[in-house]
Amino acid sequence: MPDGRSATGSSDSINRLRPRRSCLAVPGSNPRFLEKAQGLPADQVFLDLEDACAPLAKPEARHTIVKFLNEGDWTGKTRVVRVNDWTTEWTYRDVVTVVEGAGQNLDCIMLPKVQDAQQIVALDLLLTQIEKTMGFEVGKIGIEAQIENAKGLVNVDDIAAASPRVETIIFGPADFMASINMKSLVVGEQPPGYPADAYHYILMRILMAARTHNLQAIDGPYLQIRNQEGYREVAQRAAALGFDGKWVLHPDQVAAANEIFSPSQEDFDHAELILDAYEYYTSEAGGKKGSAMLGDEMIDEASRKMALVISGKGRAAGM
Ligand code: GLV
Ligand code: MG
Repeated sequence: MPDGRSATGSSDSINRLRPRRSCLAVPGSNPRFLEKAQGLPADQVFLDLEDACAPLAKPEARHTIVKFLNEGDWTGKTRVVRVNDWTTEWTYRDVVTVVEGAGQNLDCIMLPKVQDAQQIVALDLLLTQIEKTMGFEVGKIGIEAQIENAKGLVNVDDIAAASPRVETIIFGPADFMASINMKSLVVGEQPPGYPADAYHYILMRILMAARTHNLQAIDGPYLQIRNQEGYREVAQRAAALGFDGKWVLHPDQVAAANEIFSPSQEDFDHAELILDAYEYYTSEAGGKKGSAMLGDEMIDEASRKMALVISGKGRAAGM
């Protein structure tokens, strides 16, 4: 990759911008699904201790997750565990059991229903304690913050800035729709009676907070798992705005997410040509010309930045 072609260029030793086009939800209490998930081409898996795990199954699921993180083959995948939110009695034991038991084989903790920055700070402090106690690198485990209610959205800027561990802001449409009394039961679909996109403000609000703090923005689940067209439509809506990925609840949704959150080959090739043209323009040989041109297209600093985004996403997708 030519120098300077990273859109974000983080110099941190910990790369917080991990691949997340497809984020596969796997119930932490189901060994069969935990086995199968390892063979699917999802960029991220998250092993769930929250809503996909019944209350009575949670204590055992913590240990099942530790075992699968340590013994499974998750090569090439971002490994995440979703714990229960801080208003429950389960959160601290979820974090302690999973991180003490499998912290070396875990990339992030996902915290659902985040309402304010303090909830992120509390998780950060707990992770630091465990990392120190266990002799793990301090700060290595990232945090994924789910925005699932009105209060979380109102505080999303503070949440995004609350800790250097935060890697993504995730929209949780199901809980969010319930939290604001949206008049619909079909998660991710438009509520009947509203003539425009009822999610536009929410998605943009999350995206602005994420981009302000150099984080990724991820769209949540689409529950009609047999409706591939519906999934694609909702995923394309988020991808078009600039989101980095979306949850998948079923193996059939993985390929669609990987495709939709990657640039097309045509866009990727075009972006590379723009970057070549710009490099020539700023070089000793080409710098005498008034402006950079690619055929009839004028290239300026802003078009270079747009090309860097497409090129960066394409390279992350292995193009
Ligand atoms: C995900 O957790 C959601 O509530 O949509
Ligand atoms: Mg939820």
